[in-house]
Formats: sequence, structure tokens, C-alpha cells
Amino acid sequence: MKQVHLAVQLPAIHNVTVWSDPRSESQISIDSFIRLAQAAERGKFDFFFLAEGLRLREHKGEVYDLDVVGRPENLTVLAALAAVTDRLGLAGTVNATFNEPYEVARRLASLDLLSGGRAAWNVVTSYDAFTGENFRRGGFLDEADRYTRAAEFLRTARELWDSWAEGDVLADAASGHFVREGAGRFAHRGRHFDIEGRFTTPRGPQGHPVVIQAGESDAGREFAASDADVIFSKYSRLEEARPFYADVKSRLAKYGRTHGQLKIMPTATAIVADTDEEAVAYADEITRAQVSPQTAIAHLEGVWGRDLSGYDPDGPLPDVDPEPESLVLKGHSVFRKGREETARRWRKLADERGLSIRELMIEVHGGQTFVGSPRTVADAIDHYVQSDGADGFVLVPHLTPGGLDEVVDRVVPLLQEKGVFREEYTGTTLREHLGLGAPTSPEETS
Ligand SMILES: Cc1cc2nc3c(=O)[nH]c(=O)nc-3n(C[C@H](O)[C@H](O)[C@H](O)COP(=O)(O)O)c2cc1C
Repeated sequence: MKQVHLAVQLPAIHNVTVWSDPRSESQISIDSFIRLAQAAERGKFDFFFLAEGLRLREHKGEVYDLDVVGRPENLTVLAALAAVTDRLGLAGTVNATFNEPYEVARRLASLDLLSGGRAAWNVVTSYDAFTGENFRRGGFLDEADRYTRAAEFLRTARELWDSWAEGDVLADAASGHFVREGAGRFAHRGRHFDIEGRFTTPRGPQGHPVVIQAGESDAGREFAASDADVIFSKYSRLEEARPFYADVKSRLAKYGRTHGQLKIMPTATAIVADTDEEAVAYADEITRAQVSPQTAIAHLEGVWGRDLSGYDPDGPLPDVDPEPESLVLKGHSVFRKGREETARRWRKLADERGLSIRELMIEVHGGQTFVGSPRTVADAIDHYVQSDGADGFVLVPHLTPGGLDEVVDRVVPLLQEKGVFREEYTGTTLREHLGLGAPTSPEETS
């Protein structure tokens, strides 16, 4: 039987988070992050994850604030969490398009040191000139080059982490040497980076932090297969998840890697109540809060590329055509590509099923992954993993910070009873929780 891996994502930057619910507390304060992380650790989760975008989204020229905005920077938050947790992995997105490897490698090595080997890096790329404006770079990188820079970025970071060997910190009073000769020396020459010098930070307990990837495109999947320890996905329906799982795992062999070396973890939601019937009713209520009338119109505008504020969310789709060249919702990846095709598909679905705008948005952007009693949810999670839809899940609660408690207190014990989830942490590092071996150095893969 496969073991289930579980992570929690602090929900924020999309409409899964119901920040307007009276039970929601601060989305910005460290107290909320601590409560959620400690709940995950109580549940023996593998890791806590923070996503990140480098520019606030905009809607018709204003900040898009139907979803939470204004979260503090990831690695700073994770460093604070390292002090109040003991075993939980600490994962954050750090962008490989608008950063430099030296600085990112240094900060991640520091997190790994400070946390005792619990750091993980979600390597994302960013394609758009909209984000690039924040860095005076605009759209400096062609979309096709996003992953070549990311791959070289990661290779460079690994070289920097390898520039210190274990035991390089001597603190030898007799000889008067604090570090071994040669510690931190590196030189990297490549197409995107040409750097040489000394790296400031000693090797962390994991050697290399765990590397996560969330790519969807062919290049993204290939990058994950060659270089990542974990890949996230948005495929939470089993019928979509299984082909994704098979496809990504099948790419590993050509890089000399085995199935177990890359964990596939889709994001998922879990709505738990005493009975299945109650959970279904609760899930419906949550979905309607996630897809409010305003969100329904804004998402439709994202695809249509025009102002639709005059339309009734409970009425039919607009009779006007989309404007594929115009962007009214900027920085939101969902509304980036293939908008004409999406509009056609949505219109067909709405016509066939007689759906209003909001009902359509609930159909395409709403819905929960696991809904039911604790037993139903535990069985579904286990079934999904055993039938190779995933190796585990990144759960995204709709409430911050209390939204994970039901899963931790009522579902996790049932998974433990089935023998598919740890009862105690058996290791101290995230690599150990995920069953990953020692990291591979760049020269071993090239
Ligand atoms: C679970 C998940 C988490 C993601 N987190 C982030 C993130 O924090 N920041 C970001 O810029 N992109 C994030 N993405 C977007 C991906 O990095 C990626 O750009 C997207 O899946 C499209 O794939 P592609 O880049 O291969 O085209 C995430 C995607 C998924 C599925």
C-alpha cells in the first residue's frame, strides 16, 4: 500500500479563501500562519506551503481585491514558522524569472539551516511583462525561455549549495581556522548566469532543499521530471489526475530517475461534516461563498476581456462576443491563454445546461474535491492515492486559520488506522518525510 503525503497551503491568492466568513481571522498576521502550521504539524503533515505572485493582480485598472491581497514575503514567513514548529516541512514559491540564483540559494540554504532541514522551494517561472514592470525588465524573457532560465537557475543554486561540504565549519580554536580551506568557492558559466566567487552559507541538513515544481506545459512537466522532488498540479478530479500522473511518471526514466523520486501532489479541498448529507449541504454553501455574484462577473470579464458589470449574475451569458486582445483581469494565470476557445466552451456548456452566469462559474471554477463524513473523506483520499491519481495532496482550506482542524482531528486518525499515513514523524527533515534520498549534484545529472 502506498503511503499518503499531505501538505497544507495557506490559502490566499485565489477565491478558495472565504475571507469574508465571520470565522475567518487575519489573512496577513503571523498568528494566523502559526495556527495553521501548528495544526498541520499536529496532524503530522509533510509540509506547509505558501504560494506567491510578484505583482498584485489588477481588474479594470484597480487592485483585484475580491481575493486576499497583501501577504508578507514567503521566506520571511517560513523563517518565523521555523521557530514555532519542529518537524513540519516549510515550502514556499520563489520565482526563477525575476530573481538571481545567488540570493535565492543563500536564503533557502539559510532556511534549511535554521529549520533543521525542513526547507522546500517551489520553483515557478513568470512569463508576463505585467509582472516584469515591477523589476524594470518588462517581458525580458520569451515564454519559450522561461524554463531554460529556470533550469539553469536551479542548476546554479545546486552548485552554490554544493560549494560547502558537510563538515566545512571547523571552528577549530587550535588551528585558528573557522572554516575549511576552499569552503564556498564556486564558478558558474552559462547562457543565463555567469558568476564566480564565494558562497556565504554553509550546507544545510538536507544538502539541497526539497525542490517543487508546478508546471502544466510540456516544458514544465519535463523540468519536473528532470529536476524536481515534488510536482503540484491542479488536477483534483481522479479522471484527469490519473493521465497526468502516468504522463509525468513516465518521463522520469530518461533522466535515470525512479517513480519514488518525484511525488505528485494535486491541490485539493476537503469538506468534512458529521454525515455525508450535511457535508454536501455545507460544501454547496462554501462553493456559493467562493463564487460570489461579484466574483462570477469578474471571472467572466477575465475571459471576455470587456466590462460586463451591467449583466445580472443570475441571468444568461452576455450576448456580446469576447474581445480576445483586451485584458481586464491582469496577472491571473487562468485568464491568460486561449480565451476565445474558453468562451466558446463556456457558452456551449451554459446553453446545453441552461446555466446562469454564476451557475456556470460555479461549474467551471467552483466545486470541492472531497466532501463527506470523516470516513467518506478518508476512504476517498486513500482510494485516489492507491489508484495512482496522486502520491498525496496539498489541502487548501477555505477558512484561515481554523480550516484544517476537521481534517487533522477527524480524517487523519482514520488514515492512520488504515495504515496509510504516519502516526509519528520518523525523520527530522522534509526529505525524510517524503521518502526522498540524498540530493543529486548537477554533475551527476549532466
Ligand atoms: C498548485 C499550484 C501552485 C502554484 N503556485 C504558484 C505560485 O505560487 N506562484 C506562481 O507564480 N505560479 C504558481 N503556479 C503556476 C505554475 O507555476 C505554472 O506557471 C502553471 O501551472 C502553468 O504551467 P506552465 O508554467 O508550465 O505553463 C502554481 C500552479 C499550481 C498548479
